[in-house]
Amino acid sequence: MLWLKRAIKWVSILFLALLLIYAVVRPYQLYTDSQIEGDRAPYLQMQSANAMSVVWNTAEPEKGVVRYGRSPDDLDMEIRENEIAEAHEIRLTQLQAASRYYYAVGNTEAMKYGGSKEDWFMTAPVTGAKNEAVRLWVIGDSGQPGKIQHLVRDAMKTWVKSNPREGKPFLNQWLALGDNAYRSGTNQQYQVALFDAYPDILKNIALWPAYGNHDARRWTFFDIFSLPEQAESGGVLSGTEHYYSFDYANIHYVMLDSQDSDREADGEMLNWLQRDLQANQQDWLIVAFHHPPYSKGSHDSDDEGDSRGRLVEMRRYVLPVLEKYGVDLVLSGHSHGYERSYLMDCHYGDSSQFSDKNIVSPGVEGNNTDFIKVKGAHSGAVYVVAGASAKVDRAPMNHPAMAISMMKAGSLVIDIDGNYLVARYINTEAEIEDEFTIEKIKDDSWKKYSNKSYTGCQ
Ligand SMILES: [Fe+2]
Repeated sequence: MLWLKRAIKWVSILFLALLLIYAVVRPYQLYTDSQIEGDRAPYLQMQSANAMSVVWNTAEPEKGVVRYGRSPDDLDMEIRENEIAEAHEIRLTQLQAASRYYYAVGNTEAMKYGGSKEDWFMTAPVTGAKNEAVRLWVIGDSGQPGKIQHLVRDAMKTWVKSNPREGKPFLNQWLALGDNAYRSGTNQQYQVALFDAYPDILKNIALWPAYGNHDARRWTFFDIFSLPEQAESGGVLSGTEHYYSFDYANIHYVMLDSQDSDREADGEMLNWLQRDLQANQQDWLIVAFHHPPYSKGSHDSDDEGDSRGRLVEMRRYVLPVLEKYGVDLVLSGHSHGYERSYLMDCHYGDSSQFSDKNIVSPGVEGNNTDFIKVKGAHSGAVYVVAGASAKVDRAPMNHPAMAISMMKAGSLVIDIDGNYLVARYINTEAEIEDEFTIEKIKDDSWKKYSNKSYTGCQ
């Protein structure tokens, strides 16, 4: 039996050696994958009514320079960095609201990017402005590079081009619902899945990202994105880039972290959320986070084990707060399909508990498409899962809270103007697969559209 003892000994040594190599190599790999290296063209962050951050990277350390102005032929303002760096971020401040600026980016020797009439951004309208036509583009789980991603992107451009708005840019705002770079959110994966995929959009429109499970495999997300932890773009300061809020015209946006932050009712995120929503005076409330509270797509919101309970916890703890403060629209991804709910309220259990009693209103003519609601607590919200901007998975797609479920790639184009919102799911052929509207009215006339079975939270 001596040979057996020796064999066990050598196998154990080999196993320990492999474990040691992994213990050394893995942190090194995590570190190097997370480092931002090389040149990266400028992109826009933390848009507000009077400021915009321009962010870019250089392969070698240098002092960054941004020139900007109201005309591409006259970039009459300039900001220079004081220190040399490879990661650059310059915040342009004291800008005029709702105004177009042109910009160029480089170093103290020369400008390297921009300077043409295509290189512009727009500041946000003043907070509370009621009659600004706002066009918002929403992509979800967009981080799989390739054909579907490109078709979805180009279909949005085609649709928007054939449905322009007088005197307005092609988009005003851009949200990404998480899993922005597969598989692990490395710097290289972000380069391919985001920066190489959307270069002409990134240079004009500020991107507001949510944090997905695939983004969480490295820490590049927080190095790439510059997010308003100090309430730089409105709202109440969160003190973290994991979750934040911002204002645009008469809309208040909240981006939550369903991945790594405490989702419990008495946790830090929900405490901040309560404070933020209590202070909010805006006409519209739109909330986005990665893990959907209702889905029978490639993730199942009934399954306590799915994504370690994140879907269930977001539904159980976060939705009561959002609905208490009158949320209008909740956007999520994670499931790679499209699911859109009724105008609903107070459904915090599993899907078997959903019933007609949770439907606030079936909408105009009972079509469950054109919704009318008031501002206020438990006034009904539409929940959308839009996680098919780069991949589609086969799934049951039969959650009873959903008026529409489909396994089709696409993205959302949402127009908000005054008290009216229209959202469209645009497929890869630039066709509308789903369209719904929400009109917010101030008087009691919405009651004629109310669902008689609706019971409120009981
Ligand atoms: Fe995900």
